[in-house]
Formats: sequence, C-alpha cells, structure tokens
Amino acid sequence: MSHSETGTDGQPRQTIGKVVAVQGPVVDVKFNAIEDMPDMHDMVMTKTFDGRELTLLVAEHLEGNLARCVALSATLNLQRNATATATGQSLRIPVGDELFGRIINVMGQPLDGKGPIRTEKTAAIHRDLSKVEMNMTKLAGGRPEIVETGIKVVDLLFPVVRGSKTGVIGGAGCGKTVLISELIHNIVEEHDGACVFCGIGERIREGNELYHEFREAGILDKVMMAFGQMDEPPGARFNVVQTGITLAEYLQNSGREVLLFMDNVFRFVQAGAEISTLLGRTPSETGYQPTLGSEVGDVHERIKGSISAFEAVYVPADDLTDPAVVAIFSYLDAVMVLSRERTQLGLYPGIDPLASSCSNLDSGVVGQRHFDLSQEVLRIFTKYDELRRIVAVIGIDELSKADRTLYERARKLQYFLTQPMFVAEAFTGRKGQFVRIGETLDSVEMIVDGRVDDRGEDEFYMIGKVEL
Ligand SMILES: Nc1ncnc2c1ncn2[C@@H]1O[C@H](COP(=O)(O)OP(=O)(O)OP(=O)(O)O)[C@@H](O)[C@H]1O
Ligand SMILES: [Mg+2]
Repeated sequence: MSHSETGTDGQPRQTIGKVVAVQGPVVDVKFNAIEDMPDMHDMVMTKTFDGRELTLLVAEHLEGNLARCVALSATLNLQRNATATATGQSLRIPVGDELFGRIINVMGQPLDGKGPIRTEKTAAIHRDLSKVEMNMTKLAGGRPEIVETGIKVVDLLFPVVRGSKTGVIGGAGCGKTVLISELIHNIVEEHDGACVFCGIGERIREGNELYHEFREAGILDKVMMAFGQMDEPPGARFNVVQTGITLAEYLQNSGREVLLFMDNVFRFVQAGAEISTLLGRTPSETGYQPTLGSEVGDVHERIKGSISAFEAVYVPADDLTDPAVVAIFSYLDAVMVLSRERTQLGLYPGIDPLASSCSNLDSGVVGQRHFDLSQEVLRIFTKYDELRRIVAVIGIDELSKADRTLYERARKLQYFLTQPMFVAEAFTGRKGQFVRIGETLDSVEMIVDGRVDDRGEDEFYMIGKVEL
C-alpha cells in the first residue's frame, strides 16, 4: 500500500488493528490481513484505558501482520486488545504563519496554552528525500553571503554563511545553550528572515526561559518553536527534529531566509539508540544503533537551500571521538569546540580555535584582509600553545624577546576574544556587547601589529571592541 492510495471517498484508507503487546514506548499492533498493514512511518491511533489519545508511528513490519510502532507520548494505561486505527497517513503537522510565536510538540499540538493552532495547510514530517525539491536558481552563482553574529570569535574565525551548518560542540556545562541563545538573540534581531527553534531532549525549563527571552527581545513574531524535551518518550525526542525541519521547510518554501537552531542534536541520536534497543536491534560495536549513520544523514540532508542551521552537540565524557559526535561532525561546515579548560578560566565563549574548524574561512568568502588576520591569529595561538608549556617549566623571563612579545599578544588576543553576552547578563552582571565584524578586525589588527603592546592583558577581558 502506498501513501497515495485512497479509499472510495478520496480519503486515505483506514484500517483497524488491535494492540497485542506494549513494552514501554514500543507497541505491537496486529492487523487481520496483509493488505491492512500500514506503511512505515504511518500514523496509528489508539486510546488508553482512561480515554487518552495516543499516536503511534510504524517503525517495523513483523511476521504475522504485526506492525511494531513507537509511541509519541507515554503508553501508561494502554491495554492489550485496545483498538488501533491505521490512518493511512504519515504524521502531519500544521504549517503556516499562524505558527509564529507558538510552541508545538512533535505532533504539532500547541504546548503554550494559547489555544488551538488553526492553519489551512499541513505537512508530513517524514518526507521521501528523493522528492524534496530545491530552488537551485536562487543558490546558483552569487557570492556566499555572510551572516554577522556580533560575537567576535565567531565572526573572526567561524564566519557564518547563509545556508551553512554550524555546530557548537562541547561537554556538559561548557556553554552550548548560552552560545546558541546568544546567536539567536544577535542574529534574529538584526535579521529580516524567520527562525525555528527545535528543542531536543534537553531541560524543560530551558524552553520556558527561551520563550520569555524571545518575548522580552520582541522577536516572538519571527520565531516558531518545536519541543520534545527530556521528559518525553524517545519517539517524541527522535521525531521532533523532523517536526522542526518541516517548519523550516515551510518557511523556505514561502521564500524566506530561515535560521534553524537545534539544542541538542546528540539527544536525537540518543533517542534513536533507545528506540533501536527497544525494537530489539543489536547495537553496533560502538554501542550505538546500527542505523546511526543513516539517521544523522537523513536529518542533515533535509537541511539545505536557504536554511542556515546551528546545532548544539553534547559531547559525552568530553570525548570528541564519540561515534555519535563524529557522525554529526561530518555534516557541519563549521565546528566550534567548547573547551572545559577555557570555561574554567572564565574565558567565555569557551571556543578552542585550534580544536575547531570552519570551511567558510576562505579569502573568496570573507575577503583577503579578514582571511589574513584570521590566519595570523591562528598562527599566534599555535605558537602560544608551545610557549605556554615552556613558560610553565622555566618561567616567562627565559623566553627570547620575540617569543615574549608573541606570548603576550596571544594572551591579549585570547582575552579579547572573550565577550560579555546579552543572554548571560544574569550570570556575569556585565552588559552584552554586539561587535561589528569591521570593529573586530580593526581591534585584532591593533593587537597583532603591536599597537597596544603597552596595555595590560586584563584590559582586554570581556570587552567589546578595542578603543584607541
Ligand atoms: N557566555 C557565558 N558567559 C557567562 N557564563 C556562561 C557563559 N556560557 C556559559 N556560562 C555558564 O555556564 C553554565 C552552563 O552553560 P550552558 O547551560 O550553556 O551549558 P551547556 O553546554 O548547554 O550544558 P549542557 O550540556 O548541560 O546542556 C551557565 O549556566 C553559566 O553559568
Ligand atoms: Mg545545554
């Protein structure tokens, strides 16, 4: 049976089955005949003992006309023999400008208590990738367009290009959520496009905080939000990514520039691993689901065209070689690695330039001056890394004059690339600073040219641009 098959009245053909087993979020539904079996990803509706509607998505076909499904909400009070209706459709969510300022869950239901979302259109959250169309004429030719973030270290070393994917990668508590929030704060306010925030498996309160931040910043009418947080079953956390991307695709198809923020993509992989285990699949040697690569790939293949994506990626046990992290890495154009060492020293944002990378840092994209300055900064940091070890053993006085100058400039640069953030005002008590790219470049030039060699390094900590 295919999605297009319809019953006599033009509606998708519904079939009736029965719940035969419930194991946590995994539910087996038995159908009478093989023709009645729903497609993969199709939606099957059932009700719990106490009358709660439950949405299941088909994850696997088993022998004996059994559809193994994953529930999108808790299966508490779901009983065997409950009637289950295969809808003949995959999961669809409402799409339209009505979603600006709204928060939805994986199924497109409102979470904000602001009443039902009535839209003319709906869209399926799972799509056959081969059928996704893209407007290539808009992309072809033309210089890559830089999105100014106002965050010095990001603009200098990780320039954001429209339509690219940027990852913020780091262990627990290294500042991923704060940096993503600051990016939203800075870009969305300046930007005329639209923004989608997708919360995946993270703290529930963070969604709440974000909502209030958007409201205070007056950007709520530019933002759509989809959440599947840590209290939700794995089916919701896994599929909410697709819900978020579907919103982004809607905005893209309506001809807008789209910013897609996701916190946290690692939780998507983790939910996939939970589902895989519950479905009884043998994990790969690395302990993750055997489908890890294709799951991460499917999501990233859908983020294209005018969608610029920012992804927070949690790194388990600070291990950058974790297979989930590596799988996500390969789809990112820019990777900002947050280092614990830096955050412990109060150097926020704790991006380690030498562990990070960015393919947009190219003279053809950012211009020759910017490129040359960025390379000089990286050269100084690389040398500083060596000198640091020497200084730790023999002290700074033993360095040659040239090395000592470089060492001191490196420390100033390192301090200069910290920045007070608007969204962190509550932690730091310092006012946020938005620094133009030109100001960042001018300041960096002053430091590397030695024009501010006479100033103390502390003068560069948590400032905006360097004032002459
Ligand atoms: N730019 C910043 N300025 C000041 N403090 C910061 C900054 N970034 C992070 N912090 C501090 O670090 C804490 C943790 O940051 P954040 O919640 O962003 O970490 P995370 O990487 O998202 O952690 P998790 O993996 O647990 O989600 C913040 O509550 C704040 O105290
Ligand atoms: Mg976080």
